[in-house]
Amino acid sequence: MPSIPRILIYMALLGTLAAAVPPLVVAWSRSEPVDKRPVTMFLDMDLQKKFKAQSTNDLFADGRSMRPLIEGTVARGESFGDTHLYGGFVGSEWAATLPNGMTMSMDLLVRGQERFTIYCTPCHGQAGEGNGMVNQRAMALVANANGPVQGTVWVPAKSLHDATVSGQPIGQIYGTITNGIRNMASYSAQIPTEDRWAIAAYVKSLQRAFDASLQDVPPTERSKIQ
Ligand code: HEC
Repeated sequence: MPSIPRILIYMALLGTLAAAVPPLVVAWSRSEPVDKRPVTMFLDMDLQKKFKAQSTNDLFADGRSMRPLIEGTVARGESFGDTHLYGGFVGSEWAATLPNGMTMSMDLLVRGQERFTIYCTPCHGQAGEGNGMVNQRAMALVANANGPVQGTVWVPAKSLHDATVSGQPIGQIYGTITNGIRNMASYSAQIPTEDRWAIAAYVKSLQRAFDASLQDVPPTERSKIQ
């Protein structure tokens, strides 16, 4: 067998070593954090033309690239200004009346009753006594020591005729629906503001009806009561 020239052997060795360099470089660069921007082959939308904060922009007459807020803009979570309408309070007290622009009427109560039936009766029950179907089912489940639900606690939905609730002003009922209270969740995401007031009005009428006597019914209507 003809002997392989030494130069070729050295070149093969060198070539093998050189071939190990790129994977080593890759492995090293992947394991070391760097502050410099990576080399990007395909820019996609990585580097776009843009106006940086405080820079100028000739497009606008005032030359500013940062635009002032459009009048009336309200940031998420920011107060809407009308605390009576949106918060249910006037000054530091719960409101005792409907907000401006809303009047107590049969239409409002009918709307409130409909929304109450959808959103509140599952827990609080049709008459607001706290015995809705969800509540009954949960109470039965936690009472059954061998049932599927164990080691949990159920806070019963409160009766809306409880002495601590029946005297609450309408704004406070609205506040409870809007913000939730203790174990009850907020309904502001599901129920629009005006409907929350309609429900609060209906709750007040439920409470009024609960404590009513025959004398509260107009004489002409009394014959309809069994
Ligand atoms: C998923 C069940 C559930 C639903 C639905 C629900 N509530 Fe409640 N609610 C509760 C529970 C539980 C409490 C008692 C919370 C506590 O004491 O921790 C409560 C308490 C209340 C109270 C008493 C607050 C106080 O000052 O003590 C009011 C008023 C009330 N709910 C109104 C409503 C209205 C109006 C609706 C419909 C928009 C509604 N709830 C829907 C479970 C519910």
